Amino acid sequence: MPSPHPIILAPSVLAGDHACLAPALEAATNASAKWLHLDIMDGHFVPNLSFGPQTVADLRTRDSNLYFDTHLMLANPDQHIEAFVKAGSNNVTVHVEPDYDIADTLCRIRDLGAHRGIALNPGTPAEAARPFLRDVELVLVMTVWPGFGGQSFIEDTLEKMRQLDQWREQDSLAFRLEVDGGIDLETAPRCRACGVDTLVAGTAFFKSPDPAAFRRAVENR
Ligand code: DX5
Ligand code: ZN
Repeated sequence: MPSPHPIILAPSVLAGDHACLAPALEAATNASAKWLHLDIMDGHFVPNLSFGPQTVADLRTRDSNLYFDTHLMLANPDQHIEAFVKAGSNNVTVHVEPDYDIADTLCRIRDLGAHRGIALNPGTPAEAARPFLRDVELVLVMTVWPGFGGQSFIEDTLEKMRQLDQWREQDSLAFRLEVDGGIDLETAPRCRACGVDTLVAGTAFFKSPDPAAFRRAVENR
């Protein structure tokens, strides 16, 4: 079922130069991207470390227009949401897998004034997100095991996208359906065909010879 939302590409700065992420931010704006995906990793929930609220805040001071789509890959996301909202995140996405009060955390994200996202790892069934679908603005289907950019797309996540899209339609829900990991010009249309409307791309975007053309192709415009 086609999504009710316009298709959006969210370049992931994880694929940028971590000595200075400002050029990655500029590459996104120069390609007329509307969203920027910010991957926050703690070395516990995922085997990698990335960056924290100060980096997000410094990127926000350089650009006040991009929608900051912050993806918390943390073992205790409930303890960090306030810092990332205050740093300038427009959306905060938390994973269902760690052991914390998800419903309370989603309420707190909303009360802090940000949009709420819920994320599922490739091995987590769509049913794990079902209790929260009415209380989020975004559902993130990870299409790689989180932790690193440049991995290959996991094929059997397509069925999970279809299932979430079906529940969105049958229950008249309004969340955006996002995918993240291994998204390129080959996998993007296959995800869109499953109802996906928000696509994160790190490697494929930043390695593209023409990021603006890449964005137009992913957004099907
Ligand atoms: C992986 C991150 C993804 C990643 C995407 O843990 O959540 O956002 O940066 O990287 P690519 O597009 O390079 O697969
Ligand atoms: Zn991500």
